[in-house]
Amino acid sequence: MILLDGKSTAAAIQERLSQQVHMLQVSGGKVPHLAVILIGDDPASHTYVAAKLKACQEVGFQSTLMQYANIREAALLRHIEQVNEDPTIDGLIVQLPLPQHVDVQEIIYHIRPEKDVDGFHPMNYGCMARNLPAHVPATPLGILALLDHYQIETSGKHCVIVGRSRTVGAPLSILMSRNSDPGNATVTLCHSHTQHLDQLTRQADILVAAVGQPRLITAGMVKEGAVVIDVGITRESDTTRKLGYRLLGDVDFAQVAPRCSYITPVPGGVGPMTIAALLSNTLRVAQNQVYVPS
Ligand code: GUN
Repeated sequence: MILLDGKSTAAAIQERLSQQVHMLQVSGGKVPHLAVILIGDDPASHTYVAAKLKACQEVGFQSTLMQYANIREAALLRHIEQVNEDPTIDGLIVQLPLPQHVDVQEIIYHIRPEKDVDGFHPMNYGCMARNLPAHVPATPLGILALLDHYQIETSGKHCVIVGRSRTVGAPLSILMSRNSDPGNATVTLCHSHTQHLDQLTRQADILVAAVGQPRLITAGMVKEGAVVIDVGITRESDTTRKLGYRLLGDVDFAQVAPRCSYITPVPGGVGPMTIAALLSNTLRVAQNQVYVPS
């Protein structure tokens, strides 16, 4: 079994990104600039945003945090409009989840597609599905980069994805089935209405778990020699830890790992790759390499 080390892979990508930032500047270009909107007090969202801002600093990006305890939808839309019109800002993400009174789709719809470095806007989503230039959501993009880094063959393989979220499962199902490399897989997308989940997961050459349900995937659900990608990251109270919690993936790692050819750890697997992918998307905007019709 080989551990898919997202931490060191992401560090190598970030090292390349900082060199590219330097080259952009010496050739008279701009410093890439990411704006992040964070609303509410969800502890996990605060942790993720802090990690994204720290990574910006590490690679030499400028970043701006726009943080609100609460905000009306109309005011949020005005802030997004300001960022859309601000030529110094290359990328904008609105950290999800949003408070219940805010219509997520409406918010995403208002981000200018070119600056939508999360790739959630329908224009980016549609272009991605058609294999046209687009921002691709960071977590799926990070997973593809990890598979690519470890030279894991995806063509002709059966990829079973558990979870159809906007951020991970749904876009990954499109990317893995596209005519590209990584891609060209036969994809099964499982969700809460799927029957006989274990029968499907056992067929997977590549199994991706992205549900947010600790230990959902047990040894009996995994084929011998499978590649297992664990996107789950749930906090479980643990008073013996300094932070008061520990992070659990969707995969019962101790049980499942011995059966795998490759497996991602949690933490240190998909998480760091997501951040590296977000930075890559933002750099491409600063380099003027993205054309997304808006
Ligand atoms: N919440 C969980 N994952 C993500 C992500 O990739 N982007 C944003 N904006 N919010 C998230």
